Amino acid sequence: MKPSPTRFGIIGTGRITRRLVADLQSTDGVEVTVIASRSGERARWYGDQYGIGTAVEGYAELLGRDDIDAVYISLPPSLHAEWSIASAQAGKHLLCEKPLTVSPTETDEVTAACRKAGVRWLDATGWLHHPRSDAFRSWIDDGRFGKIGHISASVSFYQPFQSGDHRLDASLGGGCILDLGWYAGGLARFAAGQMPTAVQADAVMVDGVSQRLTAMMWFPGGITATISCGYDTATRKWFEVAGSDSSLICDDFTRPWPDKPARCWIHDAAGKVDSESFDGHQERSMITRLIGDGPLELFQQQAIDTQRILDLFQRSIDENGQRIEA
Ligand SMILES: NC(=O)c1ccc[n+]([C@@H]2O[C@H](COP(=O)([O-])OP(=O)(O)OC[C@H]3O[C@@H](n4cnc5c(N)ncnc54)[C@H](OP(=O)(O)O)[C@@H]3O)[C@@H](O)[C@H]2O)c1
Repeated sequence: MKPSPTRFGIIGTGRITRRLVADLQSTDGVEVTVIASRSGERARWYGDQYGIGTAVEGYAELLGRDDIDAVYISLPPSLHAEWSIASAQAGKHLLCEKPLTVSPTETDEVTAACRKAGVRWLDATGWLHHPRSDAFRSWIDDGRFGKIGHISASVSFYQPFQSGDHRLDASLGGGCILDLGWYAGGLARFAAGQMPTAVQADAVMVDGVSQRLTAMMWFPGGITATISCGYDTATRKWFEVAGSDSSLICDDFTRPWPDKPARCWIHDAAGKVDSESFDGHQERSMITRLIGDGPLELFQQQAIDTQRILDLFQRSIDENGQRIEA
């Protein structure tokens, strides 16, 4: 990226911002220099809370500054494309919250803007950057579980949202399809190592916003996947990758449980279980990767494909659960 430290500007003051700012501030080679809000007062309040020296009113104001090299965007999903493109055009490297955008078209526009500006970008899907995920990748690729047949992933949390929450506002990109389907659909794509050839999906809708998503996916080589996401069941963040010899099972793939190491199990046909656990900090690994010089294409393609998968789910739902060929 550029000589250390890489100076980050923060766009938005939402719930996730506090955690990610702390992760940025505790990553070697990073400084957080500026925070922007729609409200100058709120920016100052958060700046004081987070220990960020400069607070500005308006996101464009932040992008016009020369004391930032990169931005972290934590806005509602419908605003990701607009401000990601503006960041790229301002020559700032980009870390944007998931979902990257709300459609494949917008995602293409963001990636084109980053390419044109020559800036590095990642979506903030932390789990992909945990060292454990490198182990998942090599175990699957090396055939540790035999031939992969089926993948299942479930991601949910139960939360009575406060009124005004962007997750309950379709115009802001709310709903569990984009929010949680990003993790579960993305896990299936990661484990299968490719795009599905077809999907079929159903959603429980409340006031025009998806509350629960159930979907099937078909991949080349006879691999199938089922996913379940929602806001109406207790926290689930697990998957199974079932092979002809054994299954890989993980119950915390999006983020390790508090105060526990990242973990997973390999169950074989005789009932033997190998437990594995991993140290590591997924967000710091993600940030270190972004500010480094190494290739990002695998992660970027994962984001691009995940966006396309969510669009396929939506198309199937719009067509009353028809199977959609990719
Ligand atoms: N990676 C993760 O683990 C993780 C976890 C949770 C959420 N997320 C993602 O992070 C993003 C933000 O989520 P969040 O829960 O932090 O959001 P949030 O609490 O709703 O905050 C979003 C921020 O966006 C700004 N904003 C600008 N226009 C807005 C509008 N019209 N309505 C509401 N807010 C607006 C607001 O800041 P100002 O008004 O101060 O500018 C607000 O504080 C989402 O894409 C979400 O999916 C990621």
